[in-house]
Amino acid sequence: MKNDFKKYGWDNLWVNAQIATMSSEVDAPYGLKPNCSIATRGDRIVWIGEEDSLPREAFPSTKNVIDCQGKLVTPGLIDCHTHLVHAGDRCNEFEMRLNGASYEEIALAGGGIVSTVNATRKSSEDELFNESASRLERLMRDGVTTVEIKSGYGLNLDDEKKQLLVAQRLGERLPVHVVKTFLGAHAIPPEYSGQSDAYIKEVSENILPALHSLGLVDAVDAFCETIGFSLNQVEQVFKVANKLGLPVKLHAEQLSNMKGTQLASQYNALSVDHLEYLDSEGVNSIKKSGTVAVLLPGAFYCLRETKLPPIKLLRESDVPIAIATDSNPGSSPVLSLLLMLNMGCTFFKLTPEEALLGVTRNAASALGLAHEIGSLEVGKRADIVLWNISNPAQLSHTVGHLPCEQVMFRGVVRNV
Ligand code: NIG
Ligand code: FE
Repeated sequence: MKNDFKKYGWDNLWVNAQIATMSSEVDAPYGLKPNCSIATRGDRIVWIGEEDSLPREAFPSTKNVIDCQGKLVTPGLIDCHTHLVHAGDRCNEFEMRLNGASYEEIALAGGGIVSTVNATRKSSEDELFNESASRLERLMRDGVTTVEIKSGYGLNLDDEKKQLLVAQRLGERLPVHVVKTFLGAHAIPPEYSGQSDAYIKEVSENILPALHSLGLVDAVDAFCETIGFSLNQVEQVFKVANKLGLPVKLHAEQLSNMKGTQLASQYNALSVDHLEYLDSEGVNSIKKSGTVAVLLPGAFYCLRETKLPPIKLLRESDVPIAIATDSNPGSSPVLSLLLMLNMGCTFFKLTPEEALLGVTRNAASALGLAHEIGSLEVGKRADIVLWNISNPAQLSHTVGHLPCEQVMFRGVVRNV
């Protein structure tokens, strides 16, 4: 019996569940395993299978048995693109846009990203932590167990560092995995106005290497756009990232087609994000590099964009598609990943299965973490959500519900 306990000795066993594994190994929509059980030990999934095949010895040696009553179980959701750590809001710009100004016009007049930079620079690390923590807690109520957070509202060494330290602290204090992305090439800071090349030199030669040496950078991003940075400038940053062994990603083809996607694919980018203006050449290039296409329906909606990303082409080319909130005070003041599933379906005509893949398996790939999270498989991390619904399509279908009942993060269960 002692040996059995060692063998089974499970911490958690969720029985009687509809398990949407989202695994490519399970040949069914959503990788669905109906009427199944899932067990965890430590921070790992150790067993998944049908009730009938549950080893009898498992029950007496399991600490916590949960009857899911036929409800849905999925991997913890992954929000793979956010700008969650920032100060202030941009309600005034929302009003300006509704009075006729465009996002580009506001940015060119010194508002936009730069106005959030000013507010973020003025904030202390504690202030920034407190307001970002409450946003993150809201996001987590939708079953989010991994979130990517970008810098890019500091735009100098001290303030970029402050943002990334806050992101790191959020991951230490809250039950969520935080992936930290350096986005120094987000906008030209006021003190470098008219000198974007000099700013890119500072980012590449000083800021990025310094933050990397502090262990604050998991990946490097940039904003390739007429109101952001040119291909050449982005490439300088990518070269440094490459040298430091850091993966890259790119805000690409959001407001125009700059061919950032092709550049990103040359650097084997984890993801290219936004993509409303992506063309077939761009799709072909990411098809080859295995780069994930991250769609951001919140920004599409809030900017009243009308040009759709080339979904059909992405789908036909088997490019993995992810969805994220892009949570930020300007283009996407959004704190619900489930709402993004709904918008991904209604605006972009994704199927509910594609939408859920976009916040699980494909979102994990967009962060380079597909070997660890994003699907429910033995050996993967025990990040699991129990929903009070039974059909996975309902996650995309209903707006404004809070169906998340329990979340397990790294093997530890909590009620939501
Ligand atoms: O992903 N496009 C650039 N960056 C953000 C917007 C940030 C902002 O407006 O503050 C985005 O949409
Ligand atoms: Fe963004």
